[in-house]
Amino acid sequence: MIEQGKRYVVMGLLDADSLAYTIGSTIRELGGDVIFTVQNEVFKRRFLDSSKGLSAEEQAKLEFRFCDITKDEEVKALFDDVGPVAGVVHSIAFANPRTCLGDEFHTDAVEDIKLSHHISCVSLATVARYAVPVMPDGGALVSLSFDTQHVYPHYNWMGVQKAALEALVRALARRHGRDGVRCNAVSAGPLSTKASSKIPGFGQLTKWWHESSPLPWDTREDKQAVADAVVFLLGPRSAKITGQVLVVDGGAGIAGGSLLDFERRDG
Ligand SMILES: NC(=O)c1ccc[n+]([C@@H]2O[C@H](COP(=O)([O-])OP(=O)(O)OC[C@H]3O[C@@H](n4cnc5c(N)ncnc54)[C@H](O)[C@@H]3O)[C@@H](O)[C@H]2O)c1
Repeated sequence: MIEQGKRYVVMGLLDADSLAYTIGSTIRELGGDVIFTVQNEVFKRRFLDSSKGLSAEEQAKLEFRFCDITKDEEVKALFDDVGPVAGVVHSIAFANPRTCLGDEFHTDAVEDIKLSHHISCVSLATVARYAVPVMPDGGALVSLSFDTQHVYPHYNWMGVQKAALEALVRALARRHGRDGVRCNAVSAGPLSTKASSKIPGFGQLTKWWHESSPLPWDTREDKQAVADAVVFLLGPRSAKITGQVLVVDGGAGIAGGSLLDFERRDG
């Protein structure tokens, strides 16, 4: 669980639908001090404009920093400024939907693939480089992945980035274990957010999940289950877990094919 009064950096806030928002809110409820990062001033304004459902009091409680994850100097400045921290959540990914996602896997857009790789994978290493020195009592890094055991239509290069991200989680776990810093990922089932709305065929993906997940899966409500797993990996109750991918997907990843009619709760 979260350590009361300690500071956690939650990176990747876009709007109130972002996984980062549910994760940060959960950490706050459990007594942690949360700093959210947004990509830049424009994104902060967008967040506040799109979060009209949040009261002025709720908005005032949110602490923001700006950080474009592709800029080393911004990541360094962030951790120089906010340290010491007990945990960091990396909830960031990007792939140009026109070139890296879609019907056809092959593309000429190598620069887009490189940018996607930098933002969705390499940036976790940048975060570790600058966050570990401001974790004097040790700490935890947690990133977000998506099923790397199967190949999904349309998810194309993002699937490749997620597989690389999981390998990086293991590399960082090895590199920083003796610094007292653990590194893990949560692999989540499909959830309704801005990033997922850009994935062509996302509706079909959620339909398959509904058909094959032993536990019912709700693309909105189950953000909380994902956030709870992140919180577990951030805190001392997971003290000896590192380099792991914890799957929170309702069980869809272990099911071969659709559930039979009698296996479905809703018939
Ligand atoms: N939504 C899903 O179905 C799902 C499932 C499994 C894993 N995930 C992962 O969860 C994480 C969060 O995504 P989300 O679904 O909450 O969507 P989201 O769109 O709310 O969050 C993605 C974030 O990445 C940020 N980002 C992109 N480029 C950046 C850059 N250069 N610098 C800084 N930030 C940058 C965006 O600003 C945004 O805040 C991602 O890693 C995503 O792949 C999502």
